[in-house]
Amino acid sequence: MYKVLYNKKINDNSYEMKVLVPFVVKKALPGQFVTVMAREDSEKIPLSIYDCDPENGYLYLIYQVVGGSTLELSYVKDNLYSIAGPLGKPSIVCNNLDDIKDKKIVYVGGGIGIAPVYNQVKYLSDNGIKVDVIYGARNESTMIIRDKIEVISNKVMYATDDGSYGVKGFVTTVLEDVINNYDICVAIGPVIMMKNVCELTKKYNLKTIVSMNPIMIDGTGMCGACRCKVDGKMKFACIDGPEFDGHKIDFDLALKRMNIYKEEEKDKLDKMKARLDNNG
Ligand code: FES
Repeated sequence: MYKVLYNKKINDNSYEMKVLVPFVVKKALPGQFVTVMAREDSEKIPLSIYDCDPENGYLYLIYQVVGGSTLELSYVKDNLYSIAGPLGKPSIVCNNLDDIKDKKIVYVGGGIGIAPVYNQVKYLSDNGIKVDVIYGARNESTMIIRDKIEVISNKVMYATDDGSYGVKGFVTTVLEDVINNYDICVAIGPVIMMKNVCELTKKYNLKTIVSMNPIMIDGTGMCGACRCKVDGKMKFACIDGPEFDGHKIDFDLALKRMNIYKEEEKDKLDKMKARLDNNG
C-alpha cells in the first residue's frame, strides 16, 4: 500500500494524485510512466508521470476518468494498492540534452497530454533550455495547469475547439502558423491528435516524436497488448517506447486497436459505477 496525500478533482473529469513512493521518484526520468492499481482486484492502469519531488519522495499523477478502472482510481482516498515503475524509456529529447540544446523545440500537448508535456518541459527548463508549447483542449473549462506550464516555458500558445481560450481550432491550426520556427516537435495527447500533428509535420519535414498510449496489461513487455507498428515492425510501447518517431507510426492500426475494447470498456464503466454507488 502507498500513502496517498491527496486525490483531488481538478476539472470535470480529471484528477491529480499525490502519492508517497520514494523508490519510483528516485529513478524516474521525464517521458516514463508507472502502472497503478486502486485495489487488489483492480486492473493495472498505465499513467504518465506528471511531476516528481525526489527530495520528499512524492510522485504526482494527473489522470482522466475514461473507464471503469480510472473511475475506481478516482475513489481512492488514503492508500493506493500498488504502483510499479518507472517504466518505459526516458524522453528522447530530455535524454539527449547535448544534441538538442541548440535546437528550436515545440511541444504539443492535447487534453490530459499536457501533464507529461509539463514533466519534460520542466526538466528542460531546469537544465537551462526553454521551449515553446502548444496546448490544445476542448474548451477553457477542460484546461489544466495553465499557470504552471507558462512559468517554465518560453511561450505557450493555446487552441480550443470552441475558441473559448486561445485560437479557435486545433493544435494543428496553431502549429501550421509557426511550424517553420522549429527543428523538433514533440506531441503528446490523444492518438488522433498525434496523427494529425504528424501528417502536418511530415509535409514540412519537421522531425516529430510522439508518446504512444495504447492499451497495456502488464507494462513489462510480457503480454503484447501494447504493440504498435513502427516503421513496419512490431514494437511494444511499454518497453520500446512510449516515445517513437511519429512519422514512422502506423496510426490507423493504433486507432483500430484502441477501439477493439470500446464495448467492454463501456460495460465495465457501467458496472463500476453501480458498484461504487453501492459501496463507495
Ligand atoms: Fe504488455 Fe506492453 S503492456 S507488452
